[in-house]
Amino acid sequence: MQHLRTIKLILMILSKCIAFHSYKGGTGKTTIAANLAATLAKRGNVVALIDLDIYAPSLSSYFSCYHPKNWVNDFLEEKVSIHDILIDYTSILGETNGKFYIGFSNYHKDEIYKLDININQIQNTQLSLFRNFILLKEEIMRKKEADYIIIDTSPGVRFWSINALAISDIILLMLKFGDLDFDGTKIMCEEIYSSFSKFGTKSYLLLNKVEGYCTPPLINIEESQKKQKVFNHNSHSLPKNKILETLTEDIQIDVLSQIPCYCDIQFDQKEYLTVLNFPNHPFVKNIELIAKILSYTK
Ligand SMILES: Nc1ncnc2c1ncn2[C@@H]1O[C@H](COP(=O)(O)OP(=O)(O)O)[C@@H](O)[C@H]1O
Ligand SMILES: [Mg+2]
Repeated sequence: MQHLRTIKLILMILSKCIAFHSYKGGTGKTTIAANLAATLAKRGNVVALIDLDIYAPSLSSYFSCYHPKNWVNDFLEEKVSIHDILIDYTSILGETNGKFYIGFSNYHKDEIYKLDININQIQNTQLSLFRNFILLKEEIMRKKEADYIIIDTSPGVRFWSINALAISDIILLMLKFGDLDFDGTKIMCEEIYSSFSKFGTKSYLLLNKVEGYCTPPLINIEESQKKQKVFNHNSHSLPKNKILETLTEDIQIDVLSQIPCYCDIQFDQKEYLTVLNFPNHPFVKNIELIAKILSYTK
């Protein structure tokens, strides 16, 4: 029994909680979080993907066929257990030794409003909500023995996103090329991220929709990979590397990876998991690389 408890404790220490955050919306948090979570689970990990974009949940659009009975909100309000809110999506991965759980946030306006109003009005409620929030992470690690908890958050400085950052081991700050808000991002890093880093949280920049390459929607895979190679080869001479230097120097956070903009993903009518639907798509290589780096990052 004691032995089992020790093993569980070690598993909790080894598991990683990774939050996707940004200063502005539309940077690709939900897209990259969902694709990365599926990739890690496909590689044999136990992964829980949690929608904590409480104010504007959108994770369900990647898993459109499901309307859950219970939401993350219900756990935070102490109505249900962790098992009730985590839906087992492992079967969508095909063959794997991993597990893929997803917890959705309720998108009905009354439920969003309810959590928001509780935060703003009553100090005690704020505390108990935060306690339940910490419990959310602990129970996923202990009861589901998760290797990774991937959290999708709301952009900017808001109660639920700050809480999500507070319980994370790694923060991935997403920036969208062509719409880089240096000043806002810098202030957010200085005022918020730096206080978490004192407690050992690691933060990295993740650049998305990097310019210089675009796949027309109907291009075939071989052609697209050829162009990707040319892009990768030329990328060192592109002025975007100057931007990268400035970013790292200015914001003082290392860049973990850069993901090009793919028009077929950008302009498709609906969202989907590229890593599962189009495993040969060049986008998938980017996600696999991030998964690999994260598995080495402590
Ligand atoms: N690398 C990329 N290339 C092309 N389109 C992308 C890429 N990353 C995200 N997108 C698209 O950008 C839009 C916004 O992404 P989303 O993940 O919803 O952002 P956020 O969660 O930060 O608001 C979505 O339509 C998504 O499909
Ligand atoms: Mg989102």
